[in-house]
Amino acid sequence: MLGWLKNNFISPSKLRQLGILGLNERNVAYISAHNPRQGFPSVDDKLQTKLLAKDYKIATPALLGVIHHQAEIAKFERYLPAQGGFVIKPAKGSGGKGILVIQASSEDQYLKASGEWINRQTLQRHLSNLISGLYSLGGNPDVAIIESLIVSAKEFIDFTFEGVPDIRVIIYHGYPVMAMMRLSTRDSDGKANLHQGAIGVGIDLVQGTAIQAVQHDRPVFVHPDTGSALHKLSIKNWQHLLALAAACYDMTGLGYLGADLVVDAELGPLLLELNARPGLAIQMANGTGLKPRLKAIDQYREDLRGPTEVCTARVKVAQQLFSNQVCSVSPLNVE
Ligand SMILES: Nc1ncnc2c1ncn2[C@@H]1O[C@H](COP(=O)(O)OP(=O)(O)O)[C@@H](O)[C@H]1O
Ligand SMILES: [Mg+2]
Repeated sequence: MLGWLKNNFISPSKLRQLGILGLNERNVAYISAHNPRQGFPSVDDKLQTKLLAKDYKIATPALLGVIHHQAEIAKFERYLPAQGGFVIKPAKGSGGKGILVIQASSEDQYLKASGEWINRQTLQRHLSNLISGLYSLGGNPDVAIIESLIVSAKEFIDFTFEGVPDIRVIIYHGYPVMAMMRLSTRDSDGKANLHQGAIGVGIDLVQGTAIQAVQHDRPVFVHPDTGSALHKLSIKNWQHLLALAAACYDMTGLGYLGADLVVDAELGPLLLELNARPGLAIQMANGTGLKPRLKAIDQYREDLRGPTEVCTARVKVAQQLFSNQVCSVSPLNVE
């Protein structure tokens, strides 16, 4: 119940004492040191991530189609599902930019997550901009991924507004070290990206339950649009979800990785995307720093001279190391 009492909320200055990882140290000591260059393309391009995940039997939202060239835009309807919604996203986008979440369609009208209807022409213009590179890193030409709409698991309905919440897990050499759930709000337009105004909820690695929550880096206790008390948030299938996240290390070979998962009402946990440069706001959401956890894993790995366990075992190790938000457990005490 760390942050649920207002006066217990952990301030940024206190966070520093708790081993918060800063941007420079993340870039030098973790990303450069632990992420081999050849691993980047498989995570920087969402299409490649999807195809690779298939080889590793890691479930992702169904791929309906890919539009590579402007000339294909005229016939984009061929990729749309006969019924229900779909999502258009740039393969090389980030931060929710260029993602169009369509809930339903009627003739040549499309209903956005925000409730706004757009017409065929607007949708085609969006595709054209996307392929030209409007939303990609460095403005390079991109491709449009069309994928099926995730229908969020029931238990999250009261905690999200017009969008699917996602769960970010930081994976260090295959061990989950910190997790956060991001809840979309009216501000974030059906997307669960913090910069768009989504809420970040720190998640207990052992229980899969909420620790505390932030929106725009400030404490928040109820969802501003649904009124639900955020401390009641709890994620089912938590062990399975963490094992899926941990498996992304084996898939990419990246030592420091952010895995974003969603829980579909029917399909369960799915991998949405991977990030080789995951943001640091997860520490604010959890009210604690990453550094002691990363060091604990380093120590554990040294003691074992390189773990060979499968991902479910790595999840159990991490849960023992980081239970009750305490990072001081001796790695040698772990069974
Ligand atoms: N298939 C989908 N169904 C429903 N919502 C989605 C889908 N894909 C993405 N979203 C929403 O958009 C957000 C951003 O998508 P993501 O694939 O993570 O791209 P980005 O790299 O821009 O963050 C997700 O957190 C989710 O809320
Ligand atoms: Mg994302």
